[in-house]
Amino acid sequence: MRFDSLFLTEDKASQETYQKMCGLTMKAILSSLQDGKAYEGLSPKELKKVIAKEEILPAHGLGFEKVLEKVEREVLPNFVKPASTTYMAHLHSPALMESLASELIISTFNQSMDSWDQSPVATEIELEVIRQLCLLYGYGENSDGVFTSGGSQSNLCCLMLARDWYCNTHLNYDIKKYGLPSQWQKLRIYVSELSHFSMEKSAHLMGLGYQSIVKVPADDRCRMDVSALSEMLERDAKAGLLPMCVVATIGTTDYGSIDDVVSLKELCQKYGMWLHSDAAYGSAAILSEKYCTRIGDLSLGDSLTVDFHKMFLLPISCSAILVKQGKDMEPFMLHADYLNREEDEEDGYINLVGKSIQTTRRFDALKVWVSFQCRGKDGYGEIIDTCIENAAYVYQRLVADSAFSVVTAPSLSSVVFRLAASDEVNKKVRRALLLEGAVIGQTVYRGKTYLKFTLLNPLITHDSLDELLSRIQRLGSA
Ligand SMILES: Cc1ncc(COP(=O)(O)O)c(C=O)c1O
Repeated sequence: MRFDSLFLTEDKASQETYQKMCGLTMKAILSSLQDGKAYEGLSPKELKKVIAKEEILPAHGLGFEKVLEKVEREVLPNFVKPASTTYMAHLHSPALMESLASELIISTFNQSMDSWDQSPVATEIELEVIRQLCLLYGYGENSDGVFTSGGSQSNLCCLMLARDWYCNTHLNYDIKKYGLPSQWQKLRIYVSELSHFSMEKSAHLMGLGYQSIVKVPADDRCRMDVSALSEMLERDAKAGLLPMCVVATIGTTDYGSIDDVVSLKELCQKYGMWLHSDAAYGSAAILSEKYCTRIGDLSLGDSLTVDFHKMFLLPISCSAILVKQGKDMEPFMLHADYLNREEDEEDGYINLVGKSIQTTRRFDALKVWVSFQCRGKDGYGEIIDTCIENAAYVYQRLVADSAFSVVTAPSLSSVVFRLAASDEVNKKVRRALLLEGAVIGQTVYRGKTYLKFTLLNPLITHDSLDELLSRIQRLGSA
């Protein structure tokens, strides 16, 4: 046959090929995991050289086995290993075992979430996962949501909905139809100075520019300073600006610090603003019986970013938005004759494209459906508790040691600290650790360079943290 084993079908030969390719791939993956180092690959220069020598479109195909050999030689050894216990630089998590199986199902069946006829059971599962997530976060009956590609897209979508809602309700103006209103330069979004940079990126994409983002100072615990926000709102309202939205960061990227949603909600009510909670990091704490109160009452917000590819430990991509009043998602609705006809919905065929800024979209909801059921609330809670308690342990160790200083006590699972030495030494220590196969984070706090542990892996032990801190101290003195 001309097109031998092109796809996985009911054909026996195609199934044998699938099994063989998956088997070989699995073998290659397993043999690349020789030790526990987070990175033992090449330098940027060396990598560029290795990768540049491959011709990616040869005149004649090489066949899978030859290409897999190259992958084994050039790609797999140069991956960072998020599941390593010395990988703690970013909000980049290891992937739970069962979610790897889910990924195989997702890619193999390649459902597309835009229309029911491209994803029948997948659509019904996403709808149900969203419904149950809304209940989990206290969003109530009228709420709705959708899966997105990640926290940045989730924040963009929620800020767009906030903007459109504000202009509809306060200016009686429909951005969807007419574009930005004449007062667009006056619209303001209030965020913590420690919020994620997707706020500025979203403002740019929404046509409002960075000027629409007002950075509110953070207090010593890295939370938005509510009295500063209150003064800024009063000042801006008096000046004739249009405060439309406040963003509560529920787990800042560096510190895991959590803004006070109760106070922010009061201010939003006073000024008629939308409250968005960016809980990309902190949303997972809802599953911890011990620590769920730390994230505050997220049901107070109008919209919520939940990232499953962070503290929930699911593979990239996996994120969702939840919106308190589902009708506020209307700005994403648009019908096309070739995709999501109005009569489909009248007949019960729901086309999720009407809730999303994407058209073709992955069935990421399956990973949540599978992992939530596999682990249960208790299993997940134990994982999250362990990560939060590891961070508390590191914090206690650091405050007791004059060789270090720490920014703030952790609310979630990150600790930002520095050696009592110059910025240069702290930077060099991080680089030296990288060469030794340990990947830790680096950031800047009040003008100084700091190191960061982002602890998303519950396999990290107190002993391994002690050992890493000793290495950092040793490298610092060297
Ligand atoms: C608080 C916060 N919001 C949003 C994001 C963006 O998430 P993503 O990387 O999934 O786009 C991040 C990423 O680290 C984050 O820390």
